Amino acid sequence: MDGINLLETDHTKLRDKISQFRNNDNWTSRQLLIKEIISNVCQHTSAEERYLYDLITQKFDNGKFLYDKQLIDNQVHKEMMQFLLDKIDILSVGNMSFRDSYQQECEKLFSVLEDHMKEEEQLVFPKLRETLNTTELSDLYKNLEWAKQNAPTRPHPSTPVVGSKILHPVAGLVDSLTESLTGTTNVNK
Ligand SMILES: [Fe+2]
Repeated sequence: MDGINLLETDHTKLRDKISQFRNNDNWTSRQLLIKEIISNVCQHTSAEERYLYDLITQKFDNGKFLYDKQLIDNQVHKEMMQFLLDKIDILSVGNMSFRDSYQQECEKLFSVLEDHMKEEEQLVFPKLRETLNTTELSDLYKNLEWAKQNAPTRPHPSTPVVGSKILHPVAGLVDSLTESLTGTTNVNK
C-alpha cells in the first residue's frame, strides 16, 4: 500500500459509514455512527494537513490556490462537525423535529465531505501518482499512517493549521486524555 491508497481507503470507509447512517433509522445507532464519522474525518484531515498539502503546493501549478481552498473547506467542515458534536446528546430526547433538523445538518456535512473526496480523487490523486516516485509514495504512506495514529479525534476548529505538524499531535494527546478521564472510548481503536 502507498500513501494514495491509504487516503483512498479512508474515503471508501467514510462513504460506507455515511451510507450506513443514511440507511439506519435507529437514532442510538446514528449517534454512534456520526461520532465515528467525525472521528475518522478528524484523523484523515489532520494527516492530510500535515503531509499531503505540502506536496500539493510543490507539485501543482496552482498548488497555493488548491492548498488555500483545501484549508477553507477543512475549516468549514470542522465548524460543522463541532456543531454536530455539541448537539448530539439532545438527540436522545427523541424530539422528531429536532432530529429532522439534525439530520439536515448531517447532510450538509456529508455534501462538503463528498465534494472533498471527489476533488481529491479526480484531480489531486492522479496528478500525485504521476509525479511522485515509488519511494516518495511509500514515504507518504509512512507519514500519513503515523500522523493518523496521533491525530486529534475531535474537530478543534480554533486550532491553527499553520504548525499542524506540532499542534495536531498535542491536540491528539488532549483528546486521548479527555477520553480516558471521561470514560469515553475512541471509536476508532
Ligand atoms: Fe481526503
